[in-house]
Amino acid sequence: MNPTLQKILCFGSITIDRVNRSPRHRFDVAGKGLNVCRVLSQLGKPSLHLTTLGGDLRPLFLEKSRQEGLSVRWVESGSPIRFCYTLIDEKEGSVTELIENAGAVEEGAEGRLREAYEKLLADCGTVVIAGTKAPGFSGEIVPFMVRRAKERGRRVVLDLWGEDLLNSLPYSPDVIKPNLLEFAATFAPNLIHNGELPGEGAAAAAVKEAVLEICKKLSIEYRCGIVLTRGLKPVWLVSGGVPDEYPVAPAPRALNTTGSGDAFTAGLASALDAGLRAAVAEGARCGALNAGFLQVGTIRG
Ligand SMILES: Nc1ncnc2c1ncn2[C@@H]1O[C@H](COP(=O)(O)OP(=O)(O)OP(=O)(O)O)[C@@H](O)[C@H]1O
Ligand SMILES: [Mg+2]
Repeated sequence: MNPTLQKILCFGSITIDRVNRSPRHRFDVAGKGLNVCRVLSQLGKPSLHLTTLGGDLRPLFLEKSRQEGLSVRWVESGSPIRFCYTLIDEKEGSVTELIENAGAVEEGAEGRLREAYEKLLADCGTVVIAGTKAPGFSGEIVPFMVRRAKERGRRVVLDLWGEDLLNSLPYSPDVIKPNLLEFAATFAPNLIHNGELPGEGAAAAAVKEAVLEICKKLSIEYRCGIVLTRGLKPVWLVSGGVPDEYPVAPAPRALNTTGSGDAFTAGLASALDAGLRAAVAEGARCGALNAGFLQVGTIRG
């Protein structure tokens, strides 16, 4: 519900307030939903991306998706597709994201999306809802999608946080998979200081204890698996009140870790038949593969 066109620009090094020229760059369709769809299709899983699209660049978005073999079903958003920019400084090893906030979808977009969604539910096994929706949608759209999917017996995986996550939990999504910071911002904002969680020492141990306690309760109350990714640190997973960890091996040649969470979500969703731990293993495999490519949300060059 928030597609984007993505420029990726690599620089030997970036100097602020100077002209910087990029010898290596890409232009792709992206956004959490599209990224998940791309990785699923690369895994050989039939998948379809449902979104809102609008403005002059919609034909370009659709053509670029088609070139990648991705199925996109869209309804009119009445607002132009935004851009995101990734700046890679090879000397610093830094990856900087510049994100345009999306314009609001027009009145009527949500109704059209609901209608298209209901039709697609008939033929789908798993619904993945990923990312933050564009402004203009009501707070009801995501919980509605989760409720309808569960009423029709579909599997639901959520890579989102905040109100959308809180209001979706009562419908028992199968797995929720925010990163740790997003989870803390949703359920325990008091643990966050200056936008960060403590990474080491006694404070980090206290965060772990507090977070896992919340996860245990939520996983029992809402009968859902909880997977919290933490970049290169081991993934925390909780199912039926029982916590577990899955180690992460650093990708040998990490180029761009943006979208590793989306690749993880796709891998996880694709492998849930094998159980939560096996699905986390597949998620971690895909997240690591994504890190090795410049493109965001891909496991193939
Ligand atoms: N450098 C890396 N090497 C290997 N695996 C990685 C690396 N970075 C991320 N991963 C894998 O991807 C998973 C998701 O990463 P992370 O927690 O950074 O996601 P995220 O914050 O949701 O990212 P995004 O939303 O940008 O996709 C990690 O749990 C890990 O398994
Ligand atoms: Mg993420």
